[in-house]
Amino acid sequence: MCGIIGILGTEDAAPRLIDGLRRLEYRGYDSAGIATLVDGKLDRRRAEGKLRNLEQEVFKHPLPGLLGIGHTRWATHGVANTTNAHPHMSDRVALVHNGIIENFRPLRAELEAKGFRFETDTDTEVIVYLLTDLLNQGLSPKAAMVQGMQRLEGAFAIAVLVTGEEGLLMGARRGSPLAVGYGDGEMYLGSDALALGPLTRRIAYLEEGDIAILTRDSAEILNEKGETVERRIQITELSGAIVGKGNYKHFMEKEIHEQPATVGETLNGLVDAGTRGVVLPDLPFDLGSLDRVTLVACGTSYYAAMVAKYWIESLGQVPVELDIASEFRYRNGPVLPGSLAIFVSQSGETVDTLAALRYAKAKGAHTAAVVNVPTSAMAREADLVLRTLAGPEIGVATTKAFTAQLSVLACFATALGRARGVLSAEREAQITQALMEIPARLAEGLVKLPSALTAIVEEVAEARDVLYLGRGLSYPLAMEGALKLKEISYIHAEGYAAGEMKHGPIALIDEAVPVIALAPEDSWFEKTVSNLQEVAARRGRVIVFTTKTGAEHLRPIAAHVVELPSIDPLVSPLLYALPVQLLAYYVAVRKGTDVDQPRNLAKSVTVE
Ligand code: AGP
Repeated sequence: MCGIIGILGTEDAAPRLIDGLRRLEYRGYDSAGIATLVDGKLDRRRAEGKLRNLEQEVFKHPLPGLLGIGHTRWATHGVANTTNAHPHMSDRVALVHNGIIENFRPLRAELEAKGFRFETDTDTEVIVYLLTDLLNQGLSPKAAMVQGMQRLEGAFAIAVLVTGEEGLLMGARRGSPLAVGYGDGEMYLGSDALALGPLTRRIAYLEEGDIAILTRDSAEILNEKGETVERRIQITELSGAIVGKGNYKHFMEKEIHEQPATVGETLNGLVDAGTRGVVLPDLPFDLGSLDRVTLVACGTSYYAAMVAKYWIESLGQVPVELDIASEFRYRNGPVLPGSLAIFVSQSGETVDTLAALRYAKAKGAHTAAVVNVPTSAMAREADLVLRTLAGPEIGVATTKAFTAQLSVLACFATALGRARGVLSAEREAQITQALMEIPARLAEGLVKLPSALTAIVEEVAEARDVLYLGRGLSYPLAMEGALKLKEISYIHAEGYAAGEMKHGPIALIDEAVPVIALAPEDSWFEKTVSNLQEVAARRGRVIVFTTKTGAEHLRPIAAHVVELPSIDPLVSPLLYALPVQLLAYYVAVRKGTDVDQPRNLAKSVTVE
C-alpha cells in the first residue's frame, strides 16, 4: 500500500522524508517521490522503482526546504512510472495520496472544462486541481481543504503543501490511515507510527473525515463539516530505531525465527501459568451467553480464522460463520444483535476487514479485533481488542503475526468453552499446557527443519504447480502453505482439503506436481493417509510433514517425509505453520525473488 510522510520542520526536510519513506517500504511500492517548499515555491523529485533511485535523483538534483511531503506508491490507477509517481503538483499545490478516488472521472471532466490540463493517468491528480481551483477562487487553504474533501468519494489519506505557505502542512483522511506527529517546534504527518518513529513518539490518529491544519507550533483538527475536534495524543511503543534485519538475510527470515519468542510473548499475556487457565482482558459482553460467532478476515488472517472456527466450535460448542471480508461486507447477510463478530488482521487497517467490522457493528453485534498494531483503525473501532504481541512485522508475507493470531484465537476458544461450561478445567489445563510448549517446539523445528527441507526445496523450486493438502485443523494450514509459496516465489500453488482431492484436483496429479501434505497424528490422520495413497497410486510426488509415528506409516508411499515433534493435535496448526513458512522462504530465496517485498503485493491492503 502507499505510504505517506509529511514534515513541517526546522532542518532540511529531504533526507528526513526519505528516511521516513524507508520505514514505509515494508508496505510495498513501485515508485517514490518527495516535494518541498523552497522560497515559497514548490519543487519535487520522483523516481520509479526502489527508494535508492529516488536517493540518487535527490543527490544529483538536491532539494532544499524545511517543509516537505513524501510518498511510496503502490499503483492503483496508472502504471508504475515516474510520471504517475507522487507528489502530484500544480503551480499552487503539491500533494501525496493513499487510497482510491471513486468519482475521479466526473471530477476530472469538470476540472478540464475549467481549463486544467492533466499530466497523469492517476485518480490523485483530481485532488490537486480541485484544491487549486478553490484556492484560485480566493478560499483560504483551510477552507479549500474542507470544501475540497467534501467533493471526494472513495478512500484517501493525503498530505498537502501550498505555494507561499512556508509554515503550513495539511492532511486529511477517509478510509486510509493518517497520523499527526507532535514534535518540538515541528509537526508531522505519517501513514503509521512506524513512519514517524524517528521523529516523534507523540502521535494522534485522525478519525474518518478529519482534516489536519498544522503549523510548527499548533495542530488544528477539523471534522468533515469544518468543526474543530479533539483527537487523543498517544505515546507509541515504537522507538526511533529502525527495525533491522539483524543477522538475517531478510525480514521474513528474521520474523520466522522470532516466533518462539512472539508466540511465547502473546501466550504470556493470556495464560496464567499458575492456574494454567486462560485469562482474557475485561470483556464488554458476557462470554458465557454467546450463542453465535462470526469470523471475518483476509488472506493469511483468514486462514487463522479458519483454524479458529474448528476451535470455537469444538471447544466452545458455538456455531461459527466464517467469511472473507471482501464477500462478507457486500452480501448484506444477517448479523444477530448481541452475537460476537471477530475480525482478524495483522495491520488492523485492511480496508475490507475494517468495512466488515463497521457493517457488523451497525447490525448490533459485539465486535472484537485480533490485531498486531494497537494504534490501528480496527483497534480503535472494535468493542474489544485481543492483541497479538508479535512486534512490528516488516516482511510483506506474514509469518509471526499468523502464529500469534493462532495463539490468541486458541486462548479465546478455550475461555469460551470454560465460560459456557462445556470445557472442563482439566481439559483447559491440558490445552494451555500444550500451548505453552509450542515455543520450545518451534525452536526445535527451527534447528532441524532447514537441513530436512534442502532436497524438498530443490524439487519444489523447479515445479510449475504445487498442491498442498490437509484435513481438519490442517486444511487451513494447507491453504496458508499454498499462499506463502505463491506470494513470495510466484510458483502456482493450491491448498485443498485432502478429502476433496478426488473431487477434481486428482486430475492434476502426476510426477511433475509435488503434493505437500500436513499430517499430524490427529483424528484425521488415517483419512489423510488414504488420500495420500490415492496420490501415490497416480505417481504423485508425496511430500509429507508428520510425526515420527506418522512417518512409519507414510514413508513407503512418500518421496519425502519430514518429522515434527509430537504435540497435542489441537494445537498442531501453531507448529505446522513453521515448515510451510520455511519451505516457501527457502524456495523464494532459491528463485531470487524479492522475498520481503514481493511484486504487486502490499503489507497492508488499504484499497478495495
Ligand atoms: C499474507 O502473507 C499476505 N501478505 C496477505 O494475505 C495478508 O494476510 C492479508 O492482506 C491480510 O492482511 P491483514 O492481516 O493485515 O488484514
